[in-house]
Amino acid sequence: MARNLIPEETLERIRAAIDIVDLVSGHVQLTRKGRNFRGLCPFHTEKTPSFNVNPELQIYRCFGCGAGGNIFKFVQEMDRVSFPEAVSFLARRCGVEIPEGGGARRDGQVTDKIYRANEWAAKYYHYLLRQDEGRMALDYLHGRGLSDEVIDRFYLGYAPGSGTSLLERAGRRGHTPDLLEKAGLALPSRSGRGHYDRFRDRVMFPIANLSRRSIGFGARTLKPGDEPKYLNSPETPVYHKGSVLYGLNWTRKEIVSRDCAIVVEGYMDLLALAQAGVAHVVASSGTALTEQQCRILDRYARRVVLVFDGDAAGSAAAIRGLEVLIGAGLDAQVVPLPGDDDPDSFVRREGAGRFEQLVDEAQSAIDFYIGRLGAEIDLSTMAGKMRAIERVVPLIANCNKEVARNFMRRQVAQRLRVDERALRDDMGKTLVARNLRTRPPAEELPETPSYPEPPGPERDFMGLLLQHPQLIPRSAAGLTAEHFTDSRVRGLAELLFSRDPDDSLDLPSLMSSLEDPGLADLVSSCALVGFDEEQVERQWRDYVRVFRRNFLTRRIEESRTGGRRTRLGRPGRRYPQLRHQGSHPRTAQARRRQARGRECLTRGDFPVVSDSHRAHSSVG
Ligand code: UTP
Ligand code: MN
Repeated sequence: MARNLIPEETLERIRAAIDIVDLVSGHVQLTRKGRNFRGLCPFHTEKTPSFNVNPELQIYRCFGCGAGGNIFKFVQEMDRVSFPEAVSFLARRCGVEIPEGGGARRDGQVTDKIYRANEWAAKYYHYLLRQDEGRMALDYLHGRGLSDEVIDRFYLGYAPGSGTSLLERAGRRGHTPDLLEKAGLALPSRSGRGHYDRFRDRVMFPIANLSRRSIGFGARTLKPGDEPKYLNSPETPVYHKGSVLYGLNWTRKEIVSRDCAIVVEGYMDLLALAQAGVAHVVASSGTALTEQQCRILDRYARRVVLVFDGDAAGSAAAIRGLEVLIGAGLDAQVVPLPGDDDPDSFVRREGAGRFEQLVDEAQSAIDFYIGRLGAEIDLSTMAGKMRAIERVVPLIANCNKEVARNFMRRQVAQRLRVDERALRDDMGKTLVARNLRTRPPAEELPETPSYPEPPGPERDFMGLLLQHPQLIPRSAAGLTAEHFTDSRVRGLAELLFSRDPDDSLDLPSLMSSLEDPGLADLVSSCALVGFDEEQVERQWRDYVRVFRRNFLTRRIEESRTGGRRTRLGRPGRRYPQLRHQGSHPRTAQARRRQARGRECLTRGDFPVVSDSHRAHSSVG
């Protein structure tokens, strides 16, 4: 649906009502960096933050992967919805009406309708829990030790047993059977005529994504022995089991502040822990952890503790999850619970203190893994060690974080008492074999910016000027556009240096006055560089010195080559490591992309004319 169906005025009201820092904070832990906020990019895997949010311009940008935009774009990319869907979601969030005929009206996109159907169903189920019909379910939950507070916080509910209650009710609210089927809430009846409710006479655990939109349900039977015990939503356009962690939307804050995520298997485990006051928990919902889930966890906590049910410590799913966790290079630990306890039964009997103690004393995942191998392989013999290495090495070699890989390798060497160097050679071979066999998975990246990025220092300097306009007149006195190598930076420099110094510069109006989209893109990117506020003067001085020196070097080069330009914008010297807080592409992929898109060389590539070389040439 075309964007122009939503009146600009409505978009403007939404923009005015929603703060991008608030919105992004729901997904990313942000810290202030000068006039910007910074955190780990939610769109690609990274260890050092290059994701920046500018509250003045209400935009974000990742200098690592190139993702960037405003509030609407953020929701689009985060929730994988269309523009009208993002608008409608944000409109509801801030209570702005979208006029009839607007692009996001009721008969909008399917995905949005599925979200709405799920949201409506979650409300309906929750409502029923406190009606006569839901009495048994409520009693059941109380009987399992949950308080009304926890029941309400996690929005538990009851699906009635009649078989068509939801369909009938939903129909009156405009949710068609077809739509309910797409949302996984209804099934076509076998006769081919009509539909019936998927969830009947069950306790409902609504599952939400990180924007707190309902995406699916887990549903527990009330009858002992009934199969399946838990019935879950099927895969739908909004629910992908492998990339959801139950509870994270509620527990994320606590996970970030503890820098640790406890992973349990069941819905009830998570709720019992919440009830007991252990809040930094997510549930994998009974399946092996997936790579996507690990990637998500990696965004929120450095430490991940997998808690196995007593009877499940050796189960295939548990071990598979462990392998994925090791491969993801997370600082992973394991707690196998005693006997046939699960976290729910353990915490209810022993209390939160004992549970947290187990988590504190958790065993490293590698250690645990090798220990398990020890059950089938005699690790005291050389042959046994070799077999164990054959099993462990591929897991570690799989990890794309070098530091984690090295750390784990050391752990394996110590644990098996083998020579670490031999292990390294072995891993090298595995890596080579793997790289030959499969190309590394193409990381899912948002579309790349269509303009070549300027050299980092030039962008950062412009950022400094835009964010500290008092520096502009002084800069204009010592520099000209010619001091820069990037054509867009030159354009921006000309513009800034020719401004009336008495005019105050405010970013939003500068942005809207720019007609050249390339310049606007550059300004937004510059505005997002975060600086150490205490170092502003010093950084400015360092930059000016470097630009002037590089400029001179270029001039000398040019005169040596008879006035011909050696190569446009090729500075003669390496930039020093300035203490700016700007981020440069950290991932190899981002660097490659940047290098491709840029006419001039990256900072690290600038040729260094060494003094000894110069001495020789002057002698010769
Ligand atoms: P468990 O069988 O360990 O159940 O499954 P539980 O969490 O202890 O449940 P209670 O305490 O009996 O209520 C762990 C998780 O595996 C998934 C669910 O997500 C469950 O929470 N599961 C289990 C299913 O999806 N389907 C099933 O039939 C059983
Ligand atoms: Mn249980």
